[in-house]
Amino acid sequence: MIESKIVDPYVESYIKALLPKEEGLLGTLEQYAQEHLVPIVQPEIAQYLKVFTQLVKPKSVLEIGTAIGYSGALFATVMQEGTIDTIELSEDMFAKAEETFDSLKKTVPGVAVTQHLGSAIEVIPTIEKKFDMIFIDAAKGHYKAFFDLCYPLLNEGGVIVSDNVLYKGMIATNLYLVRRKITIVKRMRKYLTFLSTHPELDTTVLPMGDGLAISIKKGGHA
Ligand SMILES: C[S@@+](CC[C@H](N)C(=O)[O-])C[C@H]1O[C@@H](n2cnc3c(N)ncnc32)[C@H](O)[C@@H]1O
Repeated sequence: MIESKIVDPYVESYIKALLPKEEGLLGTLEQYAQEHLVPIVQPEIAQYLKVFTQLVKPKSVLEIGTAIGYSGALFATVMQEGTIDTIELSEDMFAKAEETFDSLKKTVPGVAVTQHLGSAIEVIPTIEKKFDMIFIDAAKGHYKAFFDLCYPLLNEGGVIVSDNVLYKGMIATNLYLVRRKITIVKRMRKYLTFLSTHPELDTTVLPMGDGLAISIKKGGHA
């Protein structure tokens, strides 16, 4: 058992054992990610996002960090209708995700996926759309920069979900700090303080997986 620095390892493995096994496209992508060491969302985060997306019912999603299209396919499967814009820096990942979204068209024809190739820093300013949900899951040292660029694209009452915000326990305490990660850690701490004190947001940080921050833009129906 790999020791988690965020959740008690016994609790984590117990919760993992409760998770349903994914079939179909998502199951195949999980297998691919494991075999090719692609960092997709952790299983308990995937399950959380599945439930959360059913609650939020977004019609438009912006994702920063496509990888092989696993989380994008998960959102689409829950949404059934709407649009997903997803940004990926790596050409190889982009190409693999193209295959994913091609397959997805057969089972989820109602969700139109637009893939963007390039750094989110350059791509976001070219997107002229508003979104109900934004998922940030790319370079951890750039979350604040991603946020600043995509926040104007978030609808009132919309949500921003940021993954890996507790980064192996290092964000909460220096006890777990690996020196070469210090810049990322400092930036992530600042980002979480920024989210938590932002006057237009209500934010909660969940100690699951590698840490998930959920921020809702006030002014919706809440
Ligand atoms: C953790 S993976 C995304 C996993 C994906 N969301 C999932 O769960 O299926 C992070 C991805 O972000 C990409 N990435 C890193 N920096 C980026 C940037 N500046 N703009 C866009 N994508 C970036 C990486 O190439 C990598 O594929």
